[in-house]
Amino acid sequence: MKMSLIPRVSSLLLASTLVSADATTYNVNAICTWLRPDDALLSDFHRRALGTTYWGSGILMASLADISALYPSYNGTYFSTYASTYSDAPATVGSGFIDGYYDDEGWWANGWITVYDLTQDPDYLNVAISLYNDIAGGYNTPCGGLYWSKDGTYIASIPNELYITLAASLANRVSSDQSQSYLDAAVTAWDWFFNIGVVGEDRLVVDRVNVSTCLPVGIQYSYNQGVILSAAVELYQATGNETYLEYAGNITNATTAINSTLTGANGVILDCHNGPCDTTGAMFKGPWFRGLHQLQLVYPHDNWVDYITNNAQSLWNNALNDTDGQCNTGADFSGPMSDVNEVTQGAALDCLVAAWAVTST
Ligand SMILES: *[C@@H]1O[C@H](CO)[C@@H](O)[C@H](O)[C@H]1NC(C)=O
Ligand SMILES: *[C@@H]1O[C@H](CO)[C@@H](O)[C@H](O)[C@H]1NC(C)=O
Ligand SMILES: *[C@@H]1O[C@H](CO)[C@@H](O)[C@H](O)[C@H]1NC(C)=O
Ligand SMILES: *[C@@H]1O[C@H](CO)[C@@H](O)[C@H](O)[C@H]1NC(C)=O
Ligand SMILES: *[C@@H]1O[C@H](CO)[C@@H](O)[C@H](O)[C@H]1NC(C)=O
Ligand SMILES: *[C@@H]1O[C@H](CO)[C@@H](O)[C@H](O)[C@H]1NC(C)=O
Ligand SMILES: *[C@@H]1O[C@H](CO)[C@@H](O)[C@H](O)[C@H]1NC(C)=O
Repeated sequence: MKMSLIPRVSSLLLASTLVSADATTYNVNAICTWLRPDDALLSDFHRRALGTTYWGSGILMASLADISALYPSYNGTYFSTYASTYSDAPATVGSGFIDGYYDDEGWWANGWITVYDLTQDPDYLNVAISLYNDIAGGYNTPCGGLYWSKDGTYIASIPNELYITLAASLANRVSSDQSQSYLDAAVTAWDWFFNIGVVGEDRLVVDRVNVSTCLPVGIQYSYNQGVILSAAVELYQATGNETYLEYAGNITNATTAINSTLTGANGVILDCHNGPCDTTGAMFKGPWFRGLHQLQLVYPHDNWVDYITNNAQSLWNNALNDTDGQCNTGADFSGPMSDVNEVTQGAALDCLVAAWAVTST
């Protein structure tokens, strides 16, 4: 992997353009953030796909495919990474990426759909379908909706958002004689999600539903605002119903508003700003920027482009350490740059790829 990547990277962008890169060269910055010359991040991603930060690795795999989809020269660059992740991870974690958590399974299933979109390899669609079949078995809480894990004690928003996204994505990709049941499941779960009240009067999504009272509770994490946008885009594409986009647009406006729960006075995401973040907290904004990127492409809003590019520039101006030419990015997009790992790089990548995608058309 290392030997084959270095010539590609240096000949394409890295060596020649780093010197001229600035905060607005989103394509250069996205590639530099991910493809560090020593390739440590990519090998770390693959190692972690087999172990810790397991769910985050499913997101990072999709982010790699996002780069390739935007930049055709990179189509094919990671095909061997997908193939080895597909063949190696199940042996370590559980057959077919099935484990005890419906959210883990949803992250991986949706990641494999992104990889399927790029590669058109039906194995990747099929692993998403088998994950869907397992996840659907947990859609039976006393409050409706999907459990967080197979011990059936906790109802979180995130596995439900991932499940809606997955079901609608499958409806859009399987043959037309098979799509209706997936679409029905997605619509049912979407309606449950909005009726149970996890999206509050303030149009922000809270973390979970209390399994005894069936009332919404918890913190408003950024990833909860993001994955539901991906779900809305897929449901809109499956149905042509723009109301899904309007719901998503209201969540996006609430999230991106200056001085909201999630955005600071400088217009930058507040994740990891008011205290240290572990690799779970540092990952959250990645899916938020991915969902917003997807929504903006089908439902364009100038205020969202401004928000995305402002965040991408802030992270470059304030949270970057490129003293060793490696484009390391920190957890707080307002800065200062304090720490780097595959999760901080992955969340930065999702923001930079979003900025690249929404400014390149
Ligand atoms: C990437 O390569 C695959 C396999 O060759 C091809 O089917 C797909 O259309 C390509 N995607 C893009 C975005 O060029
Ligand atoms: C659910 O709500 C009940 C009643 O208000 C409360 O006693 C319980 O602690 C809550 N459970 C959780 C997990 O928050
Ligand atoms: C569009 O979706 C909304 C939200 O789920 C729903 O209330 C409405 O009935 C749908 N419209 C059509 C024409 O199906
Ligand atoms: C979106 O927000 C506007 C303004 O508050 C409101 O009028 C509209 O009903 C909301 N749409 C949805 C689908 O919630
Ligand atoms: C979101 O904010 C923009 C800019 O203020 C506004 O035009 C739009 O109507 C708002 N709501 C939605 C759902 O787009
Ligand atoms: C955001 O909050 C800061 C600090 O309280 C304040 O100075 C600023 O005016 C606020 N901005 C907006 C747009 O509300
Ligand atoms: C920035 O990179 C330099 C050179 O690799 C390193 O010595 C320094 O510790 C880094 N600073 C931070 C905040 O990571």
